[in-house]
Amino acid sequence: MCGIVGYVGQKDAVPLLMDGLKRLEYRGYDSAGIAVHTAGDMATRICVGRLSELEDSLEKRPLQGRPGIGHTRWATHGEPSEKNSHPHLDGSGRIAVVHNGIIENYQDLRNELEAAGHTFLSDTDTEVIPHLIEQELAGGAEDFEAALLRALRRARGAYALGILFKDDPDTVYAARLGSPLIVGLGQNENYIASDVPAILKHIRQVIYLNDGEIAVLKQDQVLVKDLDGRAVHHEPKTVDMAPEATERAGFETFMLKEMHEQPRVLRSLLEKHVSGHARVQLPEVGFSEDYFQILRRIMIVSCGTAYHAAMYGKFLMEHLTGLAVETDLGSEFRYRSPRIERDTLFIAVSQSGETADTLASLRLARLKKCKVLSICNVPGSSLVRDSDSVMFTDAGPEIGVASTKAYTAQLMAFALLSIHIGRARDEITEEQEKELVAALEGIPDAIHYMLERADHIRAIADKHHDGPSALYLGRRFNYPTALEGALKNKEISYQHAEGYAAGEMKHGPIALINEYLPVVCICTRTEDEVYDKMISNMKEVEARHGRIIAIATDGDKQVASIAEDIIYVPETREEFSPLINVVALQLLAYYAAHARGTDIDKPRNLAKSVTVE
Ligand code: F6R
Repeated sequence: MCGIVGYVGQKDAVPLLMDGLKRLEYRGYDSAGIAVHTAGDMATRICVGRLSELEDSLEKRPLQGRPGIGHTRWATHGEPSEKNSHPHLDGSGRIAVVHNGIIENYQDLRNELEAAGHTFLSDTDTEVIPHLIEQELAGGAEDFEAALLRALRRARGAYALGILFKDDPDTVYAARLGSPLIVGLGQNENYIASDVPAILKHIRQVIYLNDGEIAVLKQDQVLVKDLDGRAVHHEPKTVDMAPEATERAGFETFMLKEMHEQPRVLRSLLEKHVSGHARVQLPEVGFSEDYFQILRRIMIVSCGTAYHAAMYGKFLMEHLTGLAVETDLGSEFRYRSPRIERDTLFIAVSQSGETADTLASLRLARLKKCKVLSICNVPGSSLVRDSDSVMFTDAGPEIGVASTKAYTAQLMAFALLSIHIGRARDEITEEQEKELVAALEGIPDAIHYMLERADHIRAIADKHHDGPSALYLGRRFNYPTALEGALKNKEISYQHAEGYAAGEMKHGPIALINEYLPVVCICTRTEDEVYDKMISNMKEVEARHGRIIAIATDGDKQVASIAEDIIYVPETREEFSPLINVVALQLLAYYAAHARGTDIDKPRNLAKSVTVE
């Protein structure tokens, strides 16, 4: 969703803002703009569409200045258009504001301001902010900071803001409530940004602003205050992320790079959590074995791909810990009447740690006084800061909008957590723990093997990519894999794709099957009847001339005799097969998107970090 960057220092702000905005492109956007102080004036430039449009306009009409703020907008209130692009100005053109979030009481504020004579030029909620500040200045606020604080005390909803005042040319103001914003501390220069990768080239130290705080940035000083104007002390945090982590490193897309990073990411998660004696240890989670013994119930909440990881987590935890585990979508959880009791462990799963629905669900669980554990990829994110405990997925920045390495890292986190809780509750023996850990240790190499099979998978994607639709079927642990495979396909290739529990096929989707429909069947070997049932489902598809693309265990001749195309995967325990199978589906989606010529890293309409509900 919207991205914000701001700079104060001695350099020309324009190239720095443009570079920062490019690094925020992955969040999703449909228009962009910047504002900078120029000698005695303040200039803005905006564009609809991609940042390249803004670059073209800057080439035709060069602009220099400092300090400055920049924005990529993902439309919520008002279509993507010039008038709705940020920065938005007050009536006098002396206050420029960029915003991520939604001002929920904007209509009331706008009515009031219009009645007081303010004229609005856009359809956005954001535009009330500069007008409100202007109004507070006119109404006697003693300085810009006081006017800003007064205005913010009236705004409801969520915001991350960057603000310039024409008459205060040495300062960038920032504010945060519910939407991500960090302050980057450089050498005689300072930055604001929606996330660390946007400014990683320039800084090693950051301040993670809390909700209800403003920051006043000069080139040699940053002051943080609460909304009552009281100073707040923040100990800057050192960023533990290599600048190369945000580069494509020779891959044609970030998504391809991130898929290739999966073996390394999973290996290092295993190294971090498995001791020399094949025991799973989770010191960072910090809950005692006694706590897991008395625990009665687990509730997992998340959105999108992270929800598929949660479903996998549910199946695996039920299997290995004997606990009752429930899952829900963040967007549904708090609008039903969930029974959340104190003895429930609430687990929130999120790559970004900023997903509004997941965060809101977590806050509801906290109100009910249950312990909250987050499985998250971004240190310093809102989710991390609001949790009792965190299990980091340590996948490094994920820039491709379609989640890949963060997903497999979430699955690995659930595998480790399930084994750990299972042992603590005596549901699995030491011997079984060793066997499970040994199987997990084989996963990174198996994924590496899948990545080496990319050409074969590409040929299959090339053959099937042009139909209007595809069906994905799986059972038990691979039911979420089917959902995730379908999601990957639709989000990056725009081919309609539907994931289903294979046993449900007869209850509806079987009507879709004809000689044109690709049906991706996940049929890796299991030790019980699930495999036979999956074979029967494939037979039903075959009988109706569906075009079966099977994911099968190496050397499986039975599946090969039914499927039109087959992707073999290395054998592993069924519980952990989703970690390997999903990589085949990621590649299938990737090459389908490639063949369809879509913008793989930045699919249309999607945002990487969904910070509004
Ligand atoms: C799909 C995808 C999204 C996210 C979802 C939740 O590839 O990435 O479905 O999984 O928006 O995001 P996080 O995990 O950041 O909470």
